[in-house]
Amino acid sequence: MKLLTSLALLATALLFGVACGQEDPNWYKTATYYQVYPRSLKDTNGDGIGDLKGITESIPFLKSLGVDCIWLSPIYKSPMKDFGYDIADFYTIDPIFGTWEDFEELLATIKAAGLRLLMDLIPNHTSNEHEWFIKSEQGVQPYVDYYVWKPSKGIDANGSQIPPNNWLSAFAGSAWKWSDRRQMFYLHQFTVEQPDLNYRNPLVLAEMQNVFRFWLQIGVDGFRIDAPAHIWEHEDFLDEPPSNDPNCPAPDQFCALNHTYVKDQDEVYDILYAFRTVVDEFEASSGEIKVLMSEASGDLGLTMRYYGNDTHNIIHFPFNFYLIWEINNSTNAPSIEAAILRWLEAMPVGRTANYVLGNHDNGRLASRVGREFAMTNQMIAFLLPGAMISYMGEELNMENTFVSWEQTQDPQGCNAGPELYTLFSRDPERTPYQWDDSAFAGFTNGSSTWLPVNENYVNVNVAAEEQATLSPLKIYRRLAETRKFESVKTGSFDLRVVNDDVLAFTRQLPGEVSFLVIANTAYNTVTVDVSALFPSLPSSLTVFTASENSAIQEGDTVLTSAIILPSRGGLVLSFIAVDKII
Ligand code: NOJ
Repeated sequence: MKLLTSLALLATALLFGVACGQEDPNWYKTATYYQVYPRSLKDTNGDGIGDLKGITESIPFLKSLGVDCIWLSPIYKSPMKDFGYDIADFYTIDPIFGTWEDFEELLATIKAAGLRLLMDLIPNHTSNEHEWFIKSEQGVQPYVDYYVWKPSKGIDANGSQIPPNNWLSAFAGSAWKWSDRRQMFYLHQFTVEQPDLNYRNPLVLAEMQNVFRFWLQIGVDGFRIDAPAHIWEHEDFLDEPPSNDPNCPAPDQFCALNHTYVKDQDEVYDILYAFRTVVDEFEASSGEIKVLMSEASGDLGLTMRYYGNDTHNIIHFPFNFYLIWEINNSTNAPSIEAAILRWLEAMPVGRTANYVLGNHDNGRLASRVGREFAMTNQMIAFLLPGAMISYMGEELNMENTFVSWEQTQDPQGCNAGPELYTLFSRDPERTPYQWDDSAFAGFTNGSSTWLPVNENYVNVNVAAEEQATLSPLKIYRRLAETRKFESVKTGSFDLRVVNDDVLAFTRQLPGEVSFLVIANTAYNTVTVDVSALFPSLPSSLTVFTASENSAIQEGDTVLTSAIILPSRGGLVLSFIAVDKII
């Protein structure tokens, strides 16, 4: 029934000729992906938590940003111990977000706007309230081995059961939880309420492949795969060695061990390949191109393996977090160049690069690098070759919000305790979206919000930024626009360090509108001559978009030999590329 209604709505969207040009087999390679964290975009029922109707209402605005594809953080039925990343039923919508009909309306609205939708899928674990786990714990077949169960190693001096090994949860403390009912330990690499699935059991893999199939048939355009590195554990279940990391603040934190056995096992790639085969089968029968993107391991070599090899494509692109990890307040031009090249030089030939500047697990970009430089980062990321992944609020330059210990919601923050929670909590980047300067930033008509609204909402909000002559929102739109130009989709890429402070690159296609991006990492104005570095550039260029603190602005003309860049600012300059690019 659900499937039929969805197909009918989708068919209607297609009939009106507004669906999303799925005929382009390369759509995913240069798309702008926009992550929506559903609890925080817009609340329409006054409970202080965002919902699907709120996202549907926001689609015209998201469309106006120029993004192509919405990645929706989880909306499935969940007890919300990890705010949806603990799924109790992969096939239903959590009532906190709305109904199945609300989801159908959202999907139809997205398609009618010519956008696409990616679901967030969490194959590593479920909620402990999932039927599979409840039955597994009760010893009911065929669920007995759906999860990673191990016997106790005995009883310690305090009379407590001794876990199978020293493995730690990514959210601190032992990764094992004793079940009185089953009289065994189960593995949970995240919260206690997120038991790890056991992919040694082929039934589990088949169940998860069915989940992928279901959502593909509903009409979504692909998936973001959560925590793939954790899907498989080494068979010997040995203790992990200490990391001796001097920056690890407590011995029960994940960083205290080297994760040689719980993560990044070879079999991870086999499981992901099994997911990819479902996508490929669907593509073969439907002719529609679907996409898999995934979180990535910290290790570059292991991350590249997610792409697969010549014979086995796995993930269309694992996330590239290098711009998050390596750009900060003291980064200079050579280090940004290095961060960019790290990925591009390691990536298998012909695959899709991508850039992530923020998400719901990382502090906000504007707080990490400063407001001005945040938009300069956007200029760089939007025009680099490949896919761009944006986190909602970046277009407004939203900042981290102070969340007190009493207000803290994130399990990773809560588990760290009142002394350390600010080091671990992800609440600051998850606070409500800032629509206007009314109560609660226009996020809700209710009387409270699940996380506090940032105090800067009076100035940092959609309404104010729409009204301003120049604002992060307006720069963001211009940047998204550049990606519609063929030169940014397929043009050449020439990256240069102009000097220690200034980085520049071109995206050029002969005879076409092409671009020079130029970024200043210094905390003072600089003037540079790039004519020798880029001899094919004309002697003057037009400003396509510029930092808010730049003296020259959109539409102005600048000389290639004397480009003035403001402190921490950047320019995107356009020109028609000559027929033969030198
Ligand atoms: C990664 C997700 O991005 C994060 O939010 C979540 O807590 C963990 N995986 C566990 O699912």
